[in-house]
Amino acid sequence: MNLSPEDFASLFGIAGNALPAACRKFVEAADFHYEPLQGVERDRVILGVLRHLDSGKLTMVGPERAGIWESCWSDSLQKFTESGFDPERLVPDFIRPNQPIRLNRDYVIPRNPRFELDFLRVCRSWLFARFLGDAQSVYEFGCGSGFNLIALANQFPGKKLCGLDWSKSSYEMVAMFRSKLGLNISGRHFDFFAPDPQLKLEREAGVLTMCALEQVGARHDSFVQYLLDQRPAICVNMEPLAELYDDNNLVDYLALRFHRERGYLDGFLTLLRELEAKKRIEILETRRLEFGSIYHEGYSYVAWRPI
Ligand SMILES: C[S@@+](CC[C@H](N)C(=O)[O-])C[C@H]1O[C@@H](n2cnc3c(N)ncnc32)[C@H](O)[C@@H]1O
Repeated sequence: MNLSPEDFASLFGIAGNALPAACRKFVEAADFHYEPLQGVERDRVILGVLRHLDSGKLTMVGPERAGIWESCWSDSLQKFTESGFDPERLVPDFIRPNQPIRLNRDYVIPRNPRFELDFLRVCRSWLFARFLGDAQSVYEFGCGSGFNLIALANQFPGKKLCGLDWSKSSYEMVAMFRSKLGLNISGRHFDFFAPDPQLKLEREAGVLTMCALEQVGARHDSFVQYLLDQRPAICVNMEPLAELYDDNNLVDYLALRFHRERGYLDGFLTLLRELEAKKRIEILETRRLEFGSIYHEGYSYVAWRPI
């Protein structure tokens, strides 16, 4: 089986011929063949997931992981520097090649070892085209290696970009993109748990998080309040959104268990829906891409704006 440009368009809720050119380019350049899993092979994957969930080895996200992230991005910074500033070295290790993945609420085996990364590239270019084309400046909070910002700079040259993270190695690495890659990107410290009110967003800014807010569990209130105060033109959060799983589906149920065991983002979409009911924000789009790693779907998104 294969995913065509029309399949991606359908995932995004648009007509096949409406797929933005940037997305189509990524779909056509990659191999999206995969094999569905059946019988004993499917059971083996499910058993592996269950064993992992029951292993007692899953760590919780939260404030105590600051040191772990620092060491992760300091390794990346070293690899990036030693490679002579090759942006390909910025692909994070948590996008693991050669794994079964989840697609359309089941597990499948991709032919292409980089299927997850290639799928992310298509979806990321879709998000950028759909929501961030008009923003003069875009801030990515929890930007990690900064590889999303480089993709955004390549898709929309000329935007003023800023990568923020609580890891010093992360924002120092991102700050190097200006001198080493010639991109209009700056880096800055930011902590979701204690947003700095002195950090003023530019007018009509875009705000982006990608698999980053997931790290705060239920403690997203301060960040949401910060955004309500700053009034960006648009916020796009591509994150695991627990509210979108169906716990009557086995594969979703296992993702939910993983999500809860790790303490991922809890109640964020619910809070946004409450704020919308109070007319404080407008939710522009919520979408599940029916795709993820073997353990969960990190690539659902919600786009919204303060009113
Ligand atoms: C899974 S990584 C995602 C990085 C990047 N957005 C990407 O898509 O590759 C999560 C990121 O969130 C950052 N992070 C976790 N907790 C944070 C906090 N309290 N404040 C700021 N950044 C945080 C980590 O340092 C890391 O860069």
